[in-house]
Amino acid sequence: MSDRTSTHKTVFPKPGNFLYPVPAVMVSCADGEGKPNIITVAWAGTVCSDPPMVSISVRKSRYSYDLIRKSGVFVINLTTKKLTRAADYCGVRSGRDVDKFAECRLHAVAAEKVGAPLIEESPVNIECRVKQVIELGTHDMFLAEVVCVQVDSAYIDESGKFHMEDTHLTAYSHGKYYELGKMLGSFGYSVRKKPVKKTSKRGGQTKNKKVKKTR
Ligand SMILES: Cc1cc2nc3c(=O)[nH]c(=O)nc-3n(C[C@H](O)[C@H](O)[C@H](O)COP(=O)(O)O)c2cc1C
Repeated sequence: MSDRTSTHKTVFPKPGNFLYPVPAVMVSCADGEGKPNIITVAWAGTVCSDPPMVSISVRKSRYSYDLIRKSGVFVINLTTKKLTRAADYCGVRSGRDVDKFAECRLHAVAAEKVGAPLIEESPVNIECRVKQVIELGTHDMFLAEVVCVQVDSAYIDESGKFHMEDTHLTAYSHGKYYELGKMLGSFGYSVRKKPVKKTSKRGGQTKNKKVKKTR
């Protein structure tokens, strides 16, 4: 450990959640009769690449908690600039009292693989099946496998490439919502050689080493 102390740091009185930015996703779920609901969740994350797995942490007191626990399924819908107001609303009103789909003028449509609906207006819908529920304290963590992903066809070009960058995704940081900004680089750019048309001493072109994308 370093002996160097910093004069620029202030220790927060209580350690808390400072891992930001995070996505504030809109999680859709349904009750036994198929009545849909949406809960906004910021404590969500990717936890495994293969099998593809995610987690969401939900308080037992939420109306959605029992819906997800009983059905064993949910859909993560990514939040965009256009959906931010609805995402906030779904995070401050309960499905016990209001129909959030109707209030936010959103459409619940059938998912491909799970019994929970997805939000049509969201460009990315991640269908999840719960594998494990871990009681952590204030929140229970639902560990779930991603069984299907649907994306809005409007963002797929002629070559079949999906343009996530055009969907205007938002992030949540320390109580505030932000639209994603300028792209700063892409995976591995720090070690990638610039595509210069320079010839080597032997007369050949300098080659770019490929950086393997594993997460
Ligand atoms: C930005 C934001 C993030 C939130 N993140 C979570 C979360 O990660 N887990 C949770 O249990 N509640 C979270 N909430 C609170 C719930 O979304 C809120 O209590 C909601 O009204 C619950 O809806 P329900 O009763 O219909 O399930 C969040 C709220 C907001 C506004």
